[in-house]
Amino acid sequence: MKATMERFDAIVLGAGAAGLMCAMTAAQRGRRVLLLERANQVGKKILISGGGRCNFTNLDVRPERFLSGNPHFCKSALSRYRQQDFIALVEQHGIAYHEKTLGQLFCDGSARQIVDLLLAGCAKGGVTLRLNQDVQEISKPDDFHVVVNGSLAAAPALVVATGGPSIPKMGATGFAYRLAEQFGVSLVPPRPALVPLTVESAGIGLEDPGSLAGLSLDCVARFGKAKFREAMLFTHRGLSGPAILQISSYWQPGNEIHLDLLPDIDAAAYLKARKQERPKSEARSVLSEIFPNRLAQTIALRHLPEGSLANLPDRSLESLGARLKNWPVQPTGSEGYAKAEVTAGGIDCRELSSKTFETRKVPGLYFIGEALDVTGWLGGYNFQWAWSSAWCCGQAL
Ligand code: FDA
Repeated sequence: MKATMERFDAIVLGAGAAGLMCAMTAAQRGRRVLLLERANQVGKKILISGGGRCNFTNLDVRPERFLSGNPHFCKSALSRYRQQDFIALVEQHGIAYHEKTLGQLFCDGSARQIVDLLLAGCAKGGVTLRLNQDVQEISKPDDFHVVVNGSLAAAPALVVATGGPSIPKMGATGFAYRLAEQFGVSLVPPRPALVPLTVESAGIGLEDPGSLAGLSLDCVARFGKAKFREAMLFTHRGLSGPAILQISSYWQPGNEIHLDLLPDIDAAAYLKARKQERPKSEARSVLSEIFPNRLAQTIALRHLPEGSLANLPDRSLESLGARLKNWPVQPTGSEGYAKAEVTAGGIDCRELSSKTFETRKVPGLYFIGEALDVTGWLGGYNFQWAWSSAWCCGQAL
C-alpha cells in the first residue's frame, strides 16, 4: 500500500450511541482516537428514537431485563457505568428530561441534544471523526490496518460499534458479524427483536384481525415465564404495541403467545354478574362496555352463540371468560428487520471479556453495543447497554 499510514491509539467503527460514547471516553483519557462512520451523519438511530425525544435510559435498569445467551455477561458493565452516570452527564449538559412511564427517561426537547452531548464530548477529547467512510479492508499484520476511502489508518485497538441489522433502510448492516467471521469470533444467530408480530385470523381466533387495525388496549402478554403489562395494538398484519414488542424478543417461532385482555377483571365473574343483573342484554353490548366496540363485536360473533345473556349457559360465559384472560395467539412470524427496533443475538459474549469487551481470540479487537448478544427490554435499556458497554471499553483502551 503506497498511501501514507495514519496512526492512532484506537480506531472505532460506527458513530452511533456506542461508538460515540466509546470514542469520547477513550479520547478524554488521552487516547488518540479515529472514529469512522459510514453514514453522512452520526447517531441516526438516536435522532429518531423515542419519537424524536430519545428514551435515553431507564431508572430501573437491572440485568434481568436483558436477553443474552450468557445472562451474566451484562452485569459488570451495567454496574460500572450505571443509568445514574448517564443521567448525571445529561444534567451536566443542562438537558431537561422527564419520566414518561415505567422509569423511561426522555428529553423534554429533542434527541438531537443527546447527539450534541456526545459530539461535544468527542470534540473535547480531540476525537478525529470522519463521516461517509466506506471501510474496504481490515487486516492485522501487527496492529490493525483499516483501508477506508482509499487511505490507510492503523492502531493497536479496533472497536467495532456498528450495531445490528435492524432497520436496513437506515443503513444498518451485518458488518460486525462479517468482521467477527473474518477474525474467527463466533456468533449467536441474530434475529429481529422488539418487533411487531404477524398473525392470521385462525392464529388469533377472530374473523378478520385486519378489520381491527388501529385498536389498542391494555393487556398482559406472556410467553413462557416472560410477561409484560402494557398496551397492545392491532395492525393490518397482526399485533404490535409495547406489550407485543416486548414479548416478541422472547417468542420462539412456531409457538403461541398468550394475552390477558382484561388484566384487572375476573372476566368470567364479570360476565355472569352482568347476566344476573341484565339478562336481556346482548353479549356484545356487555362486551363493548369493557372493550372497544369493534373488538367486542368480533369476539361475540366468533366466540358466543347469538342472543341475550339469559340464553347463554354459564359454562359458555365461563369458557369465554377463561379465554379472555388467557387468549392464545399463534403468530406466523414477525415483521422482520425492516421493523425491528433491535437485533437479538449477535457476537457471542463468551468470546469477550465482560470488563473490557476485548475478544479473547484476537487481542486488541473489541465489540460493543447492539452488535453483541445482549438485548434490552423496550424502554431505554438498549441505549443504557450502549453507554455502559462503550464506557467500559473506553476505559480499557
Ligand atoms: P447504532 O445502530 O446506533 O450505531 C451503529 C453505527 O454504525 C451507525 O451510525 C451506522 O451507520 C454505523 N455503521 C454501520 N456499518 C458501518 C461500517 N461498515 N463502517 C462504519 N460505520 C458503520 N433504544 C432505547 O434505549 N431507547 C429508545 O428510545 C430507542 N428507540 C429506538 C427507535 C428506533 C426506531 C430504533 C430502530 C431503535 C431504537 N432503540 C432505542 C434502539 C437503539 O437505537 C439501539 O439499541 C442503539 O442505537 C444501539 O447502539 P449502537 O451504537 O450499538 O448501534
